[in-house]
Amino acid sequence: MSTLLQVEGLTRVYGGLRAVGDLSFSVGQNEILGLIGPNGAGKTTVVNLVSGVVKPSAGRVAFKNEDVTGMAPHLLARRGLVRTFQATVVYGDRTVRENAMRGAYLTLYPGFVATLFDTPAAKRKREAAEALVSELLDWLELTSVADTIAGSMPYGYQKTLGIVIALAARPSLILLDEPVAGLSAHETDQVRDTIKRVRERGITVVVIDHNMRFISGLCDRVVVIAHGQELAQGAPRDVLRDPKVIEAYLGKSYAAARAE
Ligand SMILES: Nc1ncnc2c1ncn2[C@@H]1O[C@H](COP(=O)(O)OP(=O)(O)O)[C@@H](O)[C@H]1O
Ligand SMILES: [Mg+2]
Repeated sequence: MSTLLQVEGLTRVYGGLRAVGDLSFSVGQNEILGLIGPNGAGKTTVVNLVSGVVKPSAGRVAFKNEDVTGMAPHLLARRGLVRTFQATVVYGDRTVRENAMRGAYLTLYPGFVATLFDTPAAKRKREAAEALVSELLDWLELTSVADTIAGSMPYGYQKTLGIVIALAARPSLILLDEPVAGLSAHETDQVRDTIKRVRERGITVVVIDHNMRFISGLCDRVVVIAHGQELAQGAPRDVLRDPKVIEAYLGKSYAAARAE
């Protein structure tokens, strides 16, 4: 399996706090990698660093064998690296289809002047974006709500829409920050199945969560972090048995009781 994303010695300091310290991991082509850890562990910061929203204090990010450390998010999106946000950043007052179009325009936007004069190139790109969005909405069974105001839909739909927006940018890698936070057990299972289908499209996935059950039912491999540093990496069932990981989640006394 060839490596798509490689992170080496990634570090981000805020004031005196090391939100992420010397973190290294890699993601193989078409893999689903889980990044887990308790609240405040540094998961969102890792996503922000990899997706170019925040610049690292030290370390290196390589995507498709190119050094992309500190590259702006829209340039990364054009190279195929796209993320979703932990808060559902769907435009609440716009329709589902309009939201999805914004994702498509991340990589298909013909430019302001071309759009203004509606040049043939602009028209072609707009039509390509519209076709892709229709296909994605159909694929994730959102066509019946395509003209619904996004903010009025149940939270589960909004989370799925966040994934559609990312897919509309035609990524080869998506980073999903807590795609099931706040969802019911049933909605969580649906999003898990959606992510599995995303992989079947040939897309590589990095998924962040603190829900172990969700992550272990989905990921090929997991990286566990606490206090911004790696605790463990490996197959879910090995990592989740690791006393260091149990302790980070449930506290020392629980880990000790289990070991007895
Ligand atoms: N912009 C920021 N300024 C200062 N501290 C931050 C900032 N972003 C995150 N942090 C701190 O970094 C640590 C990791 O946060 P975060 O990456 O959001 O954790 P997680 O997503 O795992 O819950 C926390 O202590 C948080 O308060
Ligand atoms: Mg977070």
